[in-house]
Amino acid sequence: MSYYELKKAVEYLKSRGVPQPEIGIILGSGLGDFADGLEERFAIPYAEIPGFPVSTVKGHKGNLVFGRASGRQVAVMQGRFHLYEGYPIDKVVFATRVLGLLGIKVLIVTNAAGGINEGFRPGDLMVIKDHINLAGENPAAGEEIPELGPRFFDMTFAYDAELRDKAKIIFKEAGLEYKEGVYAFMKGPSYETPAEIRMLRVLGADAVGMSTVPEVIAARQMGIKVLGISCITNMAAGILDKPLSHAEVLEVSEKVKEKFVRVLKGIIGMI
Ligand code: HPA
Repeated sequence: MSYYELKKAVEYLKSRGVPQPEIGIILGSGLGDFADGLEERFAIPYAEIPGFPVSTVKGHKGNLVFGRASGRQVAVMQGRFHLYEGYPIDKVVFATRVLGLLGIKVLIVTNAAGGINEGFRPGDLMVIKDHINLAGENPAAGEEIPELGPRFFDMTFAYDAELRDKAKIIFKEAGLEYKEGVYAFMKGPSYETPAEIRMLRVLGADAVGMSTVPEVIAARQMGIKVLGISCITNMAAGILDKPLSHAEVLEVSEKVKEKFVRVLKGIIGMI
């Protein structure tokens, strides 16, 4: 990915007259509906934006949606790109970089994840407090592009403590329970083995998924604050005596959708 390609996408969006977003939002599996409910909605299919990959996963639509939510100007990625789709990591974070260059100050990332912490249940929402990158890839590797941030950058405060506190206040005000924990990133697309889940638990992970970490790293390099929330759609492999399926992931995220959107709107209004 060259800076030139990113600039081309940014200039294209500006030429379409998109409003300047304050907050970027990346929606995970089954959560795409949030973008349909925005006010002053202006959706641009990924296929029309130069350099954008096109999402191939069931449950992921492919639109960049601009609009207003809770009085804030947002840009929502309705569908994201994953390493397991075969994209190089710079394509996985292409849209995040574009949102950063459009000027977002905050990125909210959501995902579906398997619960490793045995105190979790399918349907729980987990505020991400930290992550473990186990994919062996990093979107900041490669040619140094000063416009995208420094070569070496801090990840101690990757998941902004103030934003996490705000999210927790919203959960409490809504009378909803929440969990908090560490998200482990595995490339997929196979789900993990029970032995891998035991390993991840030893490493300190509470949940596991196949997304989010590349986008968070790219956002942090650009100095964007991050809030991450996982929807626990299933218990991770080997915890229950049954196989995992993508259908189950979609079914649970569909059930949790309404709660998730309510929380998301509350958080946006508070940022
Ligand atoms: N593992 C990895 N990714 C996932 C899972 C899981 O159990 N559930 C939803 N996304």
